Amino acid sequence: MRVGGSVRPPGDKSITHRALIVGALSRSSVTLDGALTAHDARSTAAALRRLGAEVGSLRAGARVRVRGRPWNSPTRTLDCGNSGTTARLLLGALAGQRIEARLTGDASLRRRPMRRITLPLRAMGAEVAEEAGDGLPLRIRGGRLRPFSYHTPVASAQLKTALLLAGLTGRVPVTVSEPVRSRDHTERLFTHLGFDLTVRGTTIVLAGAGSRWPRLPPFELEIPGDPSSAAFLAGAALLAESGELCLEAVGVNPTRTGYLGVLARMGAALGRLGEREAGGEPLADLLVGPAALRATEISAEEVPSLIDEVPLLAVLAARAEGETWFRSVGELRVKESDRLGLIAANLRALGVEAAVEGDDLVVQGTDRPPRGRVDTAGDHRIAMAFAVLGTLPGARVELSERASAAVSYPGFFTDLERIRRDA
Ligand code: S3P
Repeated sequence: MRVGGSVRPPGDKSITHRALIVGALSRSSVTLDGALTAHDARSTAAALRRLGAEVGSLRAGARVRVRGRPWNSPTRTLDCGNSGTTARLLLGALAGQRIEARLTGDASLRRRPMRRITLPLRAMGAEVAEEAGDGLPLRIRGGRLRPFSYHTPVASAQLKTALLLAGLTGRVPVTVSEPVRSRDHTERLFTHLGFDLTVRGTTIVLAGAGSRWPRLPPFELEIPGDPSSAAFLAGAALLAESGELCLEAVGVNPTRTGYLGVLARMGAALGRLGEREAGGEPLADLLVGPAALRATEISAEEVPSLIDEVPLLAVLAARAEGETWFRSVGELRVKESDRLGLIAANLRALGVEAAVEGDDLVVQGTDRPPRGRVDTAGDHRIAMAFAVLGTLPGARVELSERASAAVSYPGFFTDLERIRRDA
């Protein structure tokens, strides 16, 4: 297989959620360029409209306009769909407002833990009523919040962001420290908008939004391509036999691009062109081509910077020479599916040796063509990762479904075909 051409991956999912929510909270007019238009972003936009904000329609290639208004208690439940980020960030933003909302999601999201967010929000002064234990649906009533300082038990950007949004809406100072630095898009966006936020190591202090909040001047934001979506096409280029692929305007924020370092250790030659900055975020064009991969060890400290790329890195490890270890990846059990168990089971179903040992994942590389059926459990990243493995010559990888890719990357299968056709 040959690869070639250029692809601009869809807008960054994490930044899109944050920009939509901050836009919907401020009284200014906000224009977003390059926002993600996939299902998860639409879940956030729809919930914000229910809360009273004006959010333009999310259409590929079009600018999105957001105009905030004071939020109201929604008359209907906020459906967060498949999106954990929507649910958790909204809980934070609601905590500091005297309104009440009920949140739910699809079957996958209803199973995901929410207490990691609701316990600290309760300690700040919000009221939360659970309907189904540690998950959705639940009701939150915001209130008068207390200044808050918290050490998170897990490195989670969703948790950190929920607390910072609570500080913003509740107008109280918040200090969050994390065991390991998680993605820092919220810190960058808040700083870009002029809020009084300082970062020292793994500790973030939000002193307050300042007197201009929520009446910020109108602002525009250019959203880079999502490095997590780009990773799948990069993976296909690495597994190809010849050619080179250009991935345009991809976010290269170091708290997101741990996978690029891992790929370099595995033997990939990655090029970066035209490094620039937009809205406080670094972006670049990435060049990637085929490589003979070798095994590596991914340390616990690296995991937060590549948490969403483990499915892709695991399928690449299946083609690397030697045994690849992913240390302390237990968080994968509570993603859109039990990714830890599912990655190992699906690799085995394709004839690859893989096992979960405690919280670690180990994958033994092979050069036998992968053949068999993959259960995606409706998880977008599992579907896309195994589709990449299915591009190998001689492979016969049957996915249980591929529609889930639309959660984060609606044009994925078209782009995957195109990079091989354009070669
Ligand atoms: C996200 C944070 C990560 C990541 C998710 C998006 C975010 O989750 O897996 O896809 O936008 O903050 P955790 O914070 O739970 O690790």
